[in-house]
Amino acid sequence: MSDDESVYEGRDLENGRRVFAVAQCFKCHRFKGEGGLVGPDLTASGRRFNQQNLLEALVEPSKVISDQYQPTLFSLLDGRQIAGRVINLNGNNYLVQQNMLDPGSLTPVNVDEIDEMVPSPVSMMPDGLLDTFTLDDIRDLVAYLKSGSDDVAVKSIDGGRKKKAND
Ligand code: HEC
Repeated sequence: MSDDESVYEGRDLENGRRVFAVAQCFKCHRFKGEGGLVGPDLTASGRRFNQQNLLEALVEPSKVISDQYQPTLFSLLDGRQIAGRVINLNGNNYLVQQNMLDPGSLTPVNVDEIDEMVPSPVSMMPDGLLDTFTLDDIRDLVAYLKSGSDDVAVKSIDGGRKKKAND
């Protein structure tokens, strides 16, 4: 068994799903075939992350930024800075997505105006999304994420309690 066997103990997966929706996670993330595509699909995240890593990913998105979604920080010759994800290079302009909640709006950055281009330390995932939720809500959310890749566990949940599969 994983180190996360207790993740479902006393948890309410329905509430976890509610938190996932209310906290706007679906806007960027796909989970079991539902939701947006601008961020990574989280269906299998419960397999790749343990409970602690998941919690960290939710509360401190910039601590670990997955390569595929690495944003770039442009310092321009006029002193301005622009951070975001490079979607493509169109002629002389990088097209930069600055806000994933408004994914269609792209900022052009002219290559001739760039002083420096470095990986940005700030994730495209906003922090503070869970600030208004209780610790119980957050733990329900983590259990919900875990359940995405754990069919047996979900089936064995009964009244918020996890039973052994062969009980
Ligand atoms: C504005 C878009 C956006 C929103 C809203 C958002 N995320 Fe994310 N999330 C991302 C991006 C982009 C990444 C990948 C970059 C990174 O690792 O920081 C990510 C990474 C993650 C990861 C790590 C997954 C991996 O494969 O690296 C988890 C877990 C996660 N988000 C959960 C959530 C949850 C739960 C919510 C709702 C509370 C949420 N996210 C809201 C954009 C978003």
